Amino acid sequence: MFGEIFWNETRSSDSSPVKIDEGVTIRRLVKNDVGLLREFFRGLSKPTLFWRFMSPVHEISEKLLHQLADTKHDRHYALIAEHEENGHRRTIAEARYVRDQTDPAKCEFAISIADEMQGRGLGSVLLQFLEKHASINGVLEMTAETLRENTAMVRLAKGAGYSVVTNFADPRMVKLKKALNQSDPASQGLPHTHAKIAA
Ligand SMILES: CC(C)(COP(=O)(O)OP(=O)(O)OC[C@H]1O[C@@H](n2cnc3c(N)ncnc32)[C@H](O)[C@@H]1OP(=O)(O)O)[C@@H](O)C(=O)NCCC(=O)NCCS
Repeated sequence: MFGEIFWNETRSSDSSPVKIDEGVTIRRLVKNDVGLLREFFRGLSKPTLFWRFMSPVHEISEKLLHQLADTKHDRHYALIAEHEENGHRRTIAEARYVRDQTDPAKCEFAISIADEMQGRGLGSVLLQFLEKHASINGVLEMTAETLRENTAMVRLAKGAGYSVVTNFADPRMVKLKKALNQSDPASQGLPHTHAKIAA
């Protein structure tokens, strides 16, 4: 089980890791993490890659990898989760939001969790971290596009208070949408979680 996550606002703006469980930390992703990101995506199963990118992906292109790691501008905020065991550290998740170019009060998020770590609450925790950071930084609406059949993502989002809106232009897709405001737990002090990540 995760313990309570004590959110430290100062940490949300740098790359200091926040420990969320024994051996598991979350930190801001930086440009130099491109190699970790490459390794992480290479380790994902085809279905997980498919759900994440919504199309069949064999290998993430270098161009896309660099875009995903390039979070220096303030439109793009990304996190990675790492697990350390016996001195070996590996990336177990990535999560991000990117602000809308024309309306920076809106953003779109995406999350991917290593196959063997899915279903243990890590996605929910990362979403709380994203929401907290977005809210502090003036984002009023979080959205994500996903395939209707992505049960895990739809369930995660519903559980976090998102509405699920059909995309009439493409009925295979749904839009997940949530208004962030001061009464959201995510925008208050602590993300509260009772996840069960530990093996
Ligand atoms: C979707 C994803 C991010 C969810 O993260 P996660 O850590 O596995 O999810 P959590 O453990 O926090 O669970 C969140 C909810 O989803 C449910 N869930 C998780 N995996 C599930 C699955 N395979 N099938 C059905 N429900 C599932 C959980 O039961 C939980 O619901 P509950 O609170 O009602 O019990 C993760 O499964 C993933 O990386 N999938 C592949 C990539 C992807 O689809 N990304 C989304 C693109 S935006």
